[in-house]
Amino acid sequence: MAEQNLKKVGLLGYGRLGQALATRLLTEGSQHGLELAFVWNRDPRRLQSTLPPALRLPDLGALGDRSPDLVVEVAHPKIIHDFGAQILSHADLLVGSPSALADRDTERQLLEASRKSGHSVFVARGALWGAEDISQLDASGGLQSLRVTMATHPDGFRLEGTFGRGPQEGPRTVLYEGPVRGLCPFAPRNSNTMAAAALAAPSLGFDGVVGVLVSDLSLTDRHVIDVELRGPPGPSGQSFCVRTQRENPAEPGAVTGSATLTTFWGSLLACGSRSTPKPGIQLC
Ligand SMILES: NC(=O)c1ccc[n+]([C@@H]2O[C@H](COP(=O)([O-])OP(=O)(O)OC[C@H]3O[C@@H](n4cnc5c(N)ncnc54)[C@H](O)[C@@H]3O)[C@@H](O)[C@H]2O)c1
Repeated sequence: MAEQNLKKVGLLGYGRLGQALATRLLTEGSQHGLELAFVWNRDPRRLQSTLPPALRLPDLGALGDRSPDLVVEVAHPKIIHDFGAQILSHADLLVGSPSALADRDTERQLLEASRKSGHSVFVARGALWGAEDISQLDASGGLQSLRVTMATHPDGFRLEGTFGRGPQEGPRTVLYEGPVRGLCPFAPRNSNTMAAAALAAPSLGFDGVVGVLVSDLSLTDRHVIDVELRGPPGPSGQSFCVRTQRENPAEPGAVTGSATLTTFWGSLLACGSRSTPKPGIQLC
């Protein structure tokens, strides 16, 4: 593909996911019609040792000057709350922290900005296994309940305020069990898979999908995500039921497991290859 046809991708966040995506864009982006246009990070010093000055964006508010086609958020839901609508006035947006959409005002602002600009809001499925199956079942009216349990070692949590600061009740402690909407503000970086499930199943949404956050001292090297869904009872009274368990190796204390890096790259390629913009929120 000729250089001038490459889609310009900007990254917001340069942690585990941001660095992995930047490396892949630099090494193989052009094969997929993509080029890294800039990286912004809250602490700009992090960019200095690995990125040439032309790829560093010092001021997030000035991202429109770089004319991006797609902006990928892999930092914190706060970036979506504060800048999501502004980003959409310039480019499509891939949301890596979908827990941001548990906030009704943020969701409304993004939908309005998307409608006005014609740019798409993509949401990375991240660690959610079976997102398409869930969406299809939901669209057919066959989803009655959906429960997502995320278990990891307490070092992997990034909790807000005093949430989850109580004593560990034995090796496995349930920190939260209830609607996903109620968890996202307190565990914004550990509820993203549940948020993606809420978006995959709009009939249940953030108020109907149940999220369970578990602190498990034995999980020093992995994140475990259980998804359990049920359909309505059939003629025999038995309900359709699916249970999956995803065990993802993760470095101690990491928010993102190894397999999720690959999944995010797949999401970036999928939304980078869309040629017709479609306003609204789409899982990718
Ligand atoms: N959808 C999913 O299933 C899924 C899976 C993994 C990670 N994520 C999310 O993706 C994001 C990035 O993950 P990661 O593993 O790269 O994390 P990380 O901790 O390695 O890096 C986060 C980066 O964002 C920056 N950052 C942190 N808080 C910030 C804030 N308030 N404002 C601006 N920048 C901030 C940090 O400086 C760092 O560069 C997180 O929000 C994480 O929860 C989502």
